[in-house]
Amino acid sequence: MKFLAFLFIYFNFLSIVLALDTITIDQPIKDGDTIVSSGGVYELGFFRPGNSTNRYVGIWYKKISTGTVVWVANRNNPLSDSSGVLMINPDGILVLVNSTNVTIWSTNSSTILKNPIARLLDSGNLVIREENENRPEFFTWQSFDYPGDTLLPGMKLGRNLVTGLDWYSSSWKSPDDPAIGEFVERMDVQGYPQLFVWKGSSITFSSGPWNGLAFSSSPSLQPNTYFTFGFVLNQEEVYYKYDLKNGSLLTRVVLTPGGLINHYTWIDRTQSWFLYLTAQFDNCDRFALCGPYARCVINNSPPCDCLRGFEPKYPQEWDAADWSSGCVRRTPLACQQDGFRKFTGIKVPDTQKSWFNESIGLEECGKLCLADCNCTAYSNMDVRDGGSGCLLWFGDLIDIRELSPNQQDLFVRVAASEVDKKRKKKKSRLIAIVSAVAATCILSLLAWCALFHRRKKSKGREVGADDMELPLFDLVTVANATKNFSSANIIGEGGFGPVYKGKLRNGPEIAVKRLSEYSGQGLQELKNELILISKLQHRNLVKLLGCCLEGVERMLIYEYMPNNSLDYFIFDPSRKESLSWRNRYEIAMGISRGLLYLHQDSRLRIIHRDLKASNILLDTDLNPRISDFGLAKIFGADQMEGKTKRVIGTYGYMSPEYAVDGKYSVKSDVFSLGVLLLEIVSGRKNRKFHHLSHHHNLLGHAWLLLNEGKALELMDECLKDSYVESQVLRCIQVSLLCVQKLPEDRPTMASVVFWLSNDGVELPQPKQPGFFIERDSTNQSNESTDERCVTDNELSLTILEAR
Ligand SMILES: *[C@@H]1O[C@H](CO)[C@@H](O)[C@H](O)[C@H]1NC(C)=O
Ligand SMILES: *[C@@H]1O[C@H](CO)[C@@H](O)[C@H](O)[C@H]1NC(C)=O
Ligand SMILES: *[C@@H]1O[C@H](CO)[C@@H](O)[C@H](O)[C@H]1NC(C)=O
Ligand SMILES: *[C@@H]1O[C@H](CO)[C@@H](O)[C@H](O)[C@H]1NC(C)=O
Ligand SMILES: *[C@@H]1O[C@H](CO)[C@@H](O)[C@H](O)[C@H]1NC(C)=O
Ligand SMILES: *[C@@H]1O[C@H](CO)[C@@H](O)[C@H](O)[C@H]1NC(C)=O
Ligand SMILES: *[C@@H]1O[C@H](CO)[C@@H](O)[C@H](O)[C@H]1NC(C)=O
Repeated sequence: MKFLAFLFIYFNFLSIVLALDTITIDQPIKDGDTIVSSGGVYELGFFRPGNSTNRYVGIWYKKISTGTVVWVANRNNPLSDSSGVLMINPDGILVLVNSTNVTIWSTNSSTILKNPIARLLDSGNLVIREENENRPEFFTWQSFDYPGDTLLPGMKLGRNLVTGLDWYSSSWKSPDDPAIGEFVERMDVQGYPQLFVWKGSSITFSSGPWNGLAFSSSPSLQPNTYFTFGFVLNQEEVYYKYDLKNGSLLTRVVLTPGGLINHYTWIDRTQSWFLYLTAQFDNCDRFALCGPYARCVINNSPPCDCLRGFEPKYPQEWDAADWSSGCVRRTPLACQQDGFRKFTGIKVPDTQKSWFNESIGLEECGKLCLADCNCTAYSNMDVRDGGSGCLLWFGDLIDIRELSPNQQDLFVRVAASEVDKKRKKKKSRLIAIVSAVAATCILSLLAWCALFHRRKKSKGREVGADDMELPLFDLVTVANATKNFSSANIIGEGGFGPVYKGKLRNGPEIAVKRLSEYSGQGLQELKNELILISKLQHRNLVKLLGCCLEGVERMLIYEYMPNNSLDYFIFDPSRKESLSWRNRYEIAMGISRGLLYLHQDSRLRIIHRDLKASNILLDTDLNPRISDFGLAKIFGADQMEGKTKRVIGTYGYMSPEYAVDGKYSVKSDVFSLGVLLLEIVSGRKNRKFHHLSHHHNLLGHAWLLLNEGKALELMDECLKDSYVESQVLRCIQVSLLCVQKLPEDRPTMASVVFWLSNDGVELPQPKQPGFFIERDSTNQSNESTDERCVTDNELSLTILEAR
């Protein structure tokens, strides 16, 4: 034994001593061998990524046991076994061959060397050069010229304008497959250069132009105690690179399979990579999200806002949260007579159509822009030392976002009258006020006349000036459409009363919700609410077409959804098959977008308070539509936002603070969404969930599985042929983040949508869910009863505490 141990140590020692940093003609390396850079930082050899069985030649950190690979030679052409040999031939070409001597990968270079070697340097660069040559600039080939998904300190990302060599990085397909994936990060050299992330032929993210300190999109990537960042632009090359101030730190920038640019640093203490920063902070970093002449303000709702002096091009689209057409000028331009309006604290627009000159100052720059009628904006190029250089924009200004630390002021061309408005003094303001007051008076007089006129005309009906905005159906029409409210036409016994299917004569099919228990507000208040609800329009909401308010009848008329509701599918043993993973993921995304709209992007903030599977209807394309939104407010007797004595919701979906204390907020909806997403993934009802080995409900079960690293087991069996593992896992983790016990720990809908739509974004670890042991204690055989409750606090408290 002792002898063996000795031998083992001896061989280990030998291998350290013999660890070479070089491949020579006589010393190729085969699978199992490695070379190590002289300072022991990087190692090159054969490896197997993730769960793959393929073999690749790559470079990784010597001291990191998890094997973080920073470069791969044969990324698109793997070896299927461990017969590979990496050798350098007398022509100075590095070749990887398999057992049948077929070239799997090779370098190329036309320079002939006498004694070629390949050496791995402590920077992570693999270079081919003459033996005994140590000057860094003398090499015939280097791996730094062919980046993979990782940018190491000292590597260039950009373009050699002389040789045409393009230093760009491309994502891996997946952690198991280093082949070129969906995303590419590349320097764009039209106009003033910027870095773009491309997905196929569309740009997903732009760094914006360099401002002397940092890219316009990433003010936090300025030189600091750890890093220097640099941008070089001259006749020969244009590139970005970063360096470490203290070489002993390990750091890397990775373009992830999901297209994010992540900066990591290695933390010795925890032996793990720390995500220092992601270049894409939030939704506003989606390229040109708000369209031309608009800016994205992440904390606004909706986030897109026209620049001052501009208005939405298509107001209807704009109000429906489609901002892609952007904004247009309120006042047309008149070339030489125009002026400029200054914008500060922003990411400046895309520079694909721009012109620049480093030696022209700001004043001169403004004159140049004014003189060229096609110039739409100008700014300094470099913000250091009070600013220098001149950048002119031509064409529409896109991809602007608010980023307050930025110091690069943008001067946008506007009509002279738009500029004057601000400058002119009190006199004009007085005139403006006087005329505004006059206009208001006239308008109200007109409105009053119109109202009076209408009142007279439609005597007997309680109608107001808002009639035009919400169609009123008469009882006869609705009765005809629903065959006199025939019980055969009932399609749901949902919250607040039965729902009938109907067909208008010569018109579309409708769904009629007949409110049975309505005793709340007065008629006018109800109508005002309904008018507001009817203004909420989004492709993931059921549209309110009108109402019928005659006598004691209170009916809401909705568009008809032919495909029933979500619970009809996911909880039914045979029908669940018809929703593939792809359908379910789209449904999850759609519900999330709809809820985001209700919470944030619509002009009113609506808290749903009763989100559940039976409230999600499916249209002909299986596109999910949220129903019953806005009704909780109508039925909640007290309107005080944030706290109610009347809890309206459904057991199993209600957050703890709402069910117990009646406190509701957007975060109680987020909780319900989390439950709903878990139900979509698992095909099980939270409240009806049973497990042999524990007493947890679906939330508790999911949490246990996640912590045991077995989250995939939660997935509905019937999805086994259609699921995408990364999406399922992401969906489960996002759900668990949504159902965390404390409302403040739960994400906003904006984060949920962002997380669900960006594969590869790292997710926080969820804390314990709320109500994870609570479960249906009432009659369990009674499957069909609606679990919905409209109740006072004290009552719900007692029910929920019984297990
Ligand atoms: C892949 O490997 C991970 C661990 O790295 C493991 O948890 C997972 O189950 C594996 N997946 C497959 C499909 O083999
Ligand atoms: C070597 O590579 C060639 C081309 O990829 C392939 O056809 C051949 O089967 C490989 N040989 C072995 C032993 O894997
Ligand atoms: C592969 O090449 C080596 C060296 O050139 C040679 O010795 C060997 O016989 C070759 N093997 C095959 C299968 O051709
Ligand atoms: C080799 O040269 C060709 C043509 O110049 C080029 O397209 C290719 O990318 C080069 N490959 C490598 C690995 O250098
Ligand atoms: C670099 O970092 C190491 C360890 O973090 C530290 O010991 C060393 O003093 C640092 N060197 C400089 C120049 O800051
Ligand atoms: C930039 O402007 C300076 C001064 O006006 C001029 O001399 C120079 O030629 C310009 N450079 C370019 C590239 O246009
Ligand atoms: C302005 O743009 C139009 C259309 O792109 C072009 O025809 C015209 O020559 C441009 N004018 C100037 C002064 O560059």
